[in-house]
Amino acid sequence: MCGIVGFTGNRPAAQILIDGLKRLEYRGYDSAGITLAGKELITVKAVGKVRNLEAAVNEHGTLPNTTGIAHTRWATHGAPSVKNAHPHMDSSGRFAVVHNGIIENYAELKQKLEQQGHKFVSDTDSEVIPNLIAEFYQGDFVQAVASALRRISGTYGIAVLCSDYPDTIIAARHGSPIVVGLGDDCNIVASDVTPLAAYTRKVIYLDDGDLAILSPKNVELRTIENLPVEREVSSIDWDVSASGKGSYEHFMLKEIFEQPDSIANTIRGRLDHHLKSAILSGLGLSPHELAKISRIVIAGCGTSLHAGMVGEYFFEDIASIPTEVEQAAEFRYRNPIIDPDTLVLPISQSGETADTLAAVREAMNKGAIVAALCNVVGSTIAREAGRGIYLHAGPEISVASTKAFTCQVTVLLMLALMLGRNRRLNRDDGERLMLEIEKLPELIRETLKQAPVIEKIAEKYAYAEDFFYIGRGCLYPTALEGALKLKEISYIHAEGYHAAELKHGPIALLDEKVPVLALANAIPGQEKMIGNIQECLARKSSVIAVVTGDDTAADQFTGDIIRVPPSSRFIAPLTTVVALQLFAYYFARARGCEIDHPRNLAKSVTVE
Ligand code: AGP
Repeated sequence: MCGIVGFTGNRPAAQILIDGLKRLEYRGYDSAGITLAGKELITVKAVGKVRNLEAAVNEHGTLPNTTGIAHTRWATHGAPSVKNAHPHMDSSGRFAVVHNGIIENYAELKQKLEQQGHKFVSDTDSEVIPNLIAEFYQGDFVQAVASALRRISGTYGIAVLCSDYPDTIIAARHGSPIVVGLGDDCNIVASDVTPLAAYTRKVIYLDDGDLAILSPKNVELRTIENLPVEREVSSIDWDVSASGKGSYEHFMLKEIFEQPDSIANTIRGRLDHHLKSAILSGLGLSPHELAKISRIVIAGCGTSLHAGMVGEYFFEDIASIPTEVEQAAEFRYRNPIIDPDTLVLPISQSGETADTLAAVREAMNKGAIVAALCNVVGSTIAREAGRGIYLHAGPEISVASTKAFTCQVTVLLMLALMLGRNRRLNRDDGERLMLEIEKLPELIRETLKQAPVIEKIAEKYAYAEDFFYIGRGCLYPTALEGALKLKEISYIHAEGYHAAELKHGPIALLDEKVPVLALANAIPGQEKMIGNIQECLARKSSVIAVVTGDDTAADQFTGDIIRVPPSSRFIAPLTTVVALQLFAYYFARARGCEIDHPRNLAKSVTVE
């Protein structure tokens, strides 16, 4: 949530910062701003997309300043506006700060600072930071930042400029990620690695309580107690081009079409033909330890929660392990029953979601075995959990998650195979499932061939203002995910329901204006689903059916049929969700919606 980038080097910083913000725009896009360092700090801000900021910066002509910080915002305190956009200055104009996170004691700090003569112009919590730094400043920039941060409670990832130090950026982290990129003749800092990859492969992930002092030729690390500290230098393994849009109109479409490759990467090297099982070495658990797991609790939010709900079916059906799925925000407040044999699986694409992180901490504190399923390498959840399984989906830029979901479900299926083989799943059944997993990229490729059919159906239904998605078994969470995709990017009301639950209330909403998308795949429960479709038709709803291969089961009800390749019930959520992602994409496009940057949303939700 919100993106930070800072650059210090020997060339003009403005365009580098703007390009960095464009790569971070998926984290927030209400407003953006930039401050360039020098004897006088130069700040430019604009409401809306980074391109508006770029136009405003260009009006200043060539700006030679070689050090600067920039920010793209997702509003928490105060509406999107120029005055609330970052960077924020102290009232003397000496310090500029970009901030991600929430300062919990800002009201109290602001009141004190106002009494000390500081003037505030924004509605944000962030503006207290530069003023607090100014209050402690007696000529030593590092000392002032460290002293200020020791007074702050809440979360922050920040980058700070001081007009007395025109080639220095100080960055710091507490609960909101900051990564420092070590370049040649330049150093860069950002809230995630995406803007760094174009300049360097060498990065340092700050830990909570760290300060980084960057100048063009040097990076020094200290703690907020102002003591020296050392951190490991890691290397970025993402291809820079992977975070571009290529020839696709939108990141979302690119990422949907990347799924055969991203799933192939998720699977690569993780299936064991000898044991007819999966090898997930990041778990760091011996067969003996695996066999002792008596219960699984999955925690996640949004799309990751839906992946977990699919996983619940896998673990109970394939591995016979009782499994519960918990909305991550509820996890610690429900006081969950966790014992040392409980495996807790937090699922998070970004690895930064505040609620999921809180669940990780609670589970670890209760002594559970915690293994995180994350996509972003080095993310906070991945690092705090210590053990887990990376998705290897590659960078997911579109706010609406697609390839992360299918990679999450693929990992959960491999984990169920591994736990199943560790228990009662015999070699033949293990082999059958393993071979199906291996075929997944091919099945997804087949499904993607349906894109032109799906596009036509989506355009036909683009008039709808309400939509129901219904499914059964592990296609029930798939229906939830399909509906989430539609509401996120097309802004219409879309609800996922268990097909059997429809008649217990929501059926009252059905009429000729409310279409139903029914997941009628040929898996156990299909006959019941056909009955549920009849119930919808009887209320005059139009029905779009997802069916398996050339199955004719839905032909009598509708001409709007999406065909996914034949598979077992365990694979069906994956092929089916790809069809639903395409449906949501084409539906939103037909309505002229902003697909990659849907209103009010941000890619990683770092507030609770
Ligand atoms: C997905 O399309 C959403 N943008 C959202 O629900 C997302 O899945 C959720 O915020 C969780 O994010 P995470 O996987 O990064 O934790």
